[in-house]
Amino acid sequence: MEIITRMMDGSISYDPEGRLEPVTSGPGAKQEDKIERLKEVPIFEGCSQKQLRSVAKITRVFDVVAGTVLARAGEPGDEFFLIIDGTARVEVSTEKRVLLRPGEFFGEMSILDGGPRSATVVADTPVRLLVISRRHFSMLLKDVPGLTQTLLVTLSNRVRQAEGRAERLGSASTGL
Ligand code: CMP
Repeated sequence: MEIITRMMDGSISYDPEGRLEPVTSGPGAKQEDKIERLKEVPIFEGCSQKQLRSVAKITRVFDVVAGTVLARAGEPGDEFFLIIDGTARVEVSTEKRVLLRPGEFFGEMSILDGGPRSATVVADTPVRLLVISRRHFSMLLKDVPGLTQTLLVTLSNRVRQAEGRAERLGSASTGL
């Protein structure tokens, strides 16, 4: 089970052996503080105060240290992640790494199709994340105007990049 899932369901504490920073905006966080944070995230720009309040109810904020594995290729995934601070590294293949920056998200593929994680994602620096569980994801899509379109555009880019890479690998192996 992914570390964030275990943090969310309480089966591990937030700070096991000092690997994870205390959660500054976790379960006890003030709703208003969370709303102020959400306002800084580009995909929530178009949200009204009411919509932000709904989003705040279904999101958790986690701080993780560099090196934390946030998603592991091949494992089931039940959360969608949005980076607020720091960078995360998507290990797409042994040769290919993609850096995700604040405002970018990951974990949407397993949430959308129910399949296993397509890549391993690791915190490249200390990272602050917004985490939304599968059961709340459809509420997020409803509450955030334009999010469905942003997801589709991002997925299209990821498919294009993957196909480009497969083509380059094919040409390299055939020498054409
Ligand atoms: P998911 O498969 O749920 O978990 C791993 C995540 O890595 C995946 O969702 C995407 O969010 C992300 N991911 C996979 N491939 C790429 C890629 N080529 N570029 C950027 N992110 C990716």
